[in-house]
Amino acid sequence: MRKVKPVPPERLPALLRRMPKAELHMHIEGSLEPELMFALAARNGLTVPYADVATLRRAYVFNNLQEFLDIYHAGTLVLRTEQDFYDMAWAYLQRVAADQVLHTEIFFDTQTHTGHGLSADVVINGLHRACTDAQAQLGLSASLILCFLRHLSEVEAFEALEQALPLRDKLVGVGLASSELGHPPEKFARVFARARSLGFRLVAHAGEEGPPAYLWSALDVLKVERIDHGVQALRDPALVARLVHDQIPLTVCPLSNLKLKVFPTLARHKLGRMLDAGLVATVNSDDPAYFGGYLNENFTQTFAALGLTAQHAYQLAHNSFAASFIDASSMRVFQDRLTEVFETFA
Ligand code: HPA
Ligand code: ZN
Repeated sequence: MRKVKPVPPERLPALLRRMPKAELHMHIEGSLEPELMFALAARNGLTVPYADVATLRRAYVFNNLQEFLDIYHAGTLVLRTEQDFYDMAWAYLQRVAADQVLHTEIFFDTQTHTGHGLSADVVINGLHRACTDAQAQLGLSASLILCFLRHLSEVEAFEALEQALPLRDKLVGVGLASSELGHPPEKFARVFARARSLGFRLVAHAGEEGPPAYLWSALDVLKVERIDHGVQALRDPALVARLVHDQIPLTVCPLSNLKLKVFPTLARHKLGRMLDAGLVATVNSDDPAYFGGYLNENFTQTFAALGLTAQHAYQLAHNSFAASFIDASSMRVFQDRLTEVFETFA
């Protein structure tokens, strides 16, 4: 990795905000801000079961992943039309364009919404139109990853995959999200094998709350190319060696880990140790409307808490492009822009 010039700590937040970066782990339903949630509810003749925006925000206190998922699911009930999905995604895309995000890979699921009586097409078409407009109007590259919900059955995941196939060209990959504990990756071995045979890129959440064994099976059974979260990997030295050897990226989400009590404080987060161990870590926002910040907040708060440096920043941003599913020539363009910002920053 290129050595970059040192930057004094008080100048680091400005560099973090200005540096070009990719986001590889965010759930679009987790970007639904309370203001837009109330607006969509009104538009659809629905009510949000909270008095107002401030009351809703005060409910965003979680002790673990499941407590978050319950509130997050309630929020998705306001999404009814293709335009709702467009508006939600467009708000996120505009927001992260301002964070110097050049490329984003957006997680979404259809199972939540088909469970509410919507068709998968409504979800995918609305999100995809926002991604197309982001490229045209914001110069922001955006692609979509369909996540299966792991608390549901493998049969239901197969149904979600089949429903998405007519819109195959609008998706880059598949992933695995929702309640991790008790739902190991191997539950979805066959559906991932089918997605792989269809040419989808593969990722899975593993090692957020779950044990290192879940990372092993995500790699060896599902054959994923990236691990989402993966912060429990350091508990298993053989696993760390494997991840380093194969240069498997880990999409780390520091503010999510803080809000879901994976770590008691940001100062106790393992991001620095992961980088020191040679792991290909990246920084991501996961569910920014719920966890207290978009991508740049994740960078600035984590760097302040852990005392990370400009060299770490360059490494993380470089990793974010290297770990993405963009074509090789775009990747080079983005990484060159990154290097230029570091060379000219004063
Ligand atoms: N973990 C698992 N599933 C999720 C998450 C998460 O952090 N956010 C949205 N769905
Ligand atoms: Zn996630």
